[in-house]
Amino acid sequence: MDLVLWNRIAIRIYRLSKGKIQDPAVNVNCSEFEVNNWIISEFIFQKLVPIVGVTPYPINELALMVSAVCRLKPTHIFEWGTNIGKSARIFYETAKHFGLSPEIHSIDLPDEIDHHEHPKEKRGMFVKGIPVVRLYQGEGVETALEIYRKVSKMCRPLVYIDGDHSYTAVKRELGEIIKNMPNASILLHDTFYQSAESCYNLGPYKAITDTLSNMPHRYKNISTNTGLPGMTLLYHL
Ligand SMILES: C[S@@+](CC[C@H](N)C(=O)[O-])C[C@H]1O[C@@H](n2cnc3c(N)ncnc32)[C@H](O)[C@@H]1O
Repeated sequence: MDLVLWNRIAIRIYRLSKGKIQDPAVNVNCSEFEVNNWIISEFIFQKLVPIVGVTPYPINELALMVSAVCRLKPTHIFEWGTNIGKSARIFYETAKHFGLSPEIHSIDLPDEIDHHEHPKEKRGMFVKGIPVVRLYQGEGVETALEIYRKVSKMCRPLVYIDGDHSYTAVKRELGEIIKNMPNASILLHDTFYQSAESCYNLGPYKAITDTLSNMPHRYKNISTNTGLPGMTLLYHL
């Protein structure tokens, strides 16, 4: 284990032992995902909502993002697209508050690529001046894999897929991550499913369903599915 990792663990143990933070992860030796929802809620209301509000991430999605970080304790977070940087800021604030120190890598398309959601000069404004959030411009999954190939084998990644929400894009990105980052947990946005007749974009939902139909036991799945936009966590403990 390298020195930096030891240092992080030592700082976290010190802060926990001094009662400065309470770890929301519960029953960590079980095969099921569990967190203390009151600790998570308190953090969301007191710290997170004043910074990022409730759009595009309503409370239930904020809770899933925060819970994923606290329970899975990733060493690396790879996300695309950055857009104005809200998701990157959520990951950063969560890690800071709960004494975790994942590397956060956030990617959006280059300025010259035309995409209807590209943020242009507003790219990453929520994480401006926060050096631990590293911003890149490139194709999301390709850039994430390039960075991943350079990091140590100890890596325990969390990938957040929130780029182009077409079926084709999400299916390809999910497939690449499953193939090349086999131990990654994966969060995906805009995954709400109502019915095949609904007028919502069902691309991400269908991409997940089709991908997992070939590997039904590979991941456990937690989804917020009470309404739009919807978020899904695929994980293995
Ligand atoms: C819905 S926004 C993401 C919102 C962002 N996660 C946030 O919390 O503020 C989608 C973003 O994905 C970017 N995007 C689309 N396709 C992409 C790709 N293939 N690689 C990287 N970014 C992509 C768009 O430029 C846009 O900024």
